[in-house]
Amino acid sequence: MTSVEVSVEERVLVTGATGGVGQLVVGDLLKKNFKVRILTRNSAKAQKMFDDRVEIAVGDICDPNTLPAAVQNVTYIICATGTTAFPSQRWEFDPAPSLIEWVQLFLDPKYSQAKAKNSPAKVDAQGVSNLVAAAPSDLKRFVFVSSCGIQRKDKFPFSILNAFGVLDAKQKGEEAIISSGLSYTIIRPGRLIDGPYTSYDLNTLLLAKTEGKFGVVLGTGDTLLGDASRIDVATACVESIQNNHCERKVFDLINQGQRPSVIDWDTLFSSL
Ligand SMILES: NC(=O)c1ccc[n+]([C@@H]2O[C@H](COP(=O)([O-])OP(=O)(O)OC[C@H]3O[C@@H](n4cnc5c(N)ncnc54)[C@H](OP(=O)(O)O)[C@@H]3O)[C@@H](O)[C@H]2O)c1
Repeated sequence: MTSVEVSVEERVLVTGATGGVGQLVVGDLLKKNFKVRILTRNSAKAQKMFDDRVEIAVGDICDPNTLPAAVQNVTYIICATGTTAFPSQRWEFDPAPSLIEWVQLFLDPKYSQAKAKNSPAKVDAQGVSNLVAAAPSDLKRFVFVSSCGIQRKDKFPFSILNAFGVLDAKQKGEEAIISSGLSYTIIRPGRLIDGPYTSYDLNTLLLAKTEGKFGVVLGTGDTLLGDASRIDVATACVESIQNNHCERKVFDLINQGQRPSVIDWDTLFSSL
């Protein structure tokens, strides 16, 4: 079997489930009758979002002690955690910076990385490595939402995006997964559009959407440039977990061209 078609009784752990892509991943998995467990730092927020439709494991990918309970009896992991590319409240500075300190944080990437509890280096590099280390050895697939630009960090616009190290951190996360020996699929989306609008960027300000008009384009070798619908990224995560074509594959995903009436994920994946 190459794609998910029938109801299954396998458990999927979703990290970053309260985020934009993560919420959609959970919805897609529930539609396909997977058992879903989520790892969250905030169980009240998760309970409000998902009622009792998911199992909730309280934890933080930056704290390895919280991970063993979350990964127990899981067949697949979909990791959609992330933080902002530039310093923001989501980097969790303690104590909260004054206005002057914010200026200093923006002027000095090394200083802001050192001060933050939840920077890309902590979440996307160390946190992902922690999750990989905790994953069961018989895991059937580890799906990671990474980012376009990892192999083009010195080229515009990725040189700007990486000013505070988000692409360096995603790359370290990817390397931890690839060298782990686990079965994996790494998805590198372009700039995210479509709701839930959870990022702090121009696309969120403009509520940018595909309006269901654009096709899905996959590529390898980090050559694509463009926007990617959170809806399609989430579907790609869920469709890939049981698809053999995506095993040990790293691919870019953007939306481009006219959308066909049905997206044939198996054909898209078979081209990788
Ligand atoms: N924005 C873009 O244009 C863009 C482009 C390419 C790739 N990406 C990547 O795409 C993915 C999804 O993006 P998104 O905008 O949908 O994400 P998002 O809304 O920012 O969600 C991030 C999720 O990560 C969780 N999280 C953060 N730190 C954590 C920690 N230490 N331990 C456990 N969970 C933690 C958050 O939980 P809380 O609810 O507790 O905060 C939230 O559920 C991210 O990996 C992002 O880096 C984004």
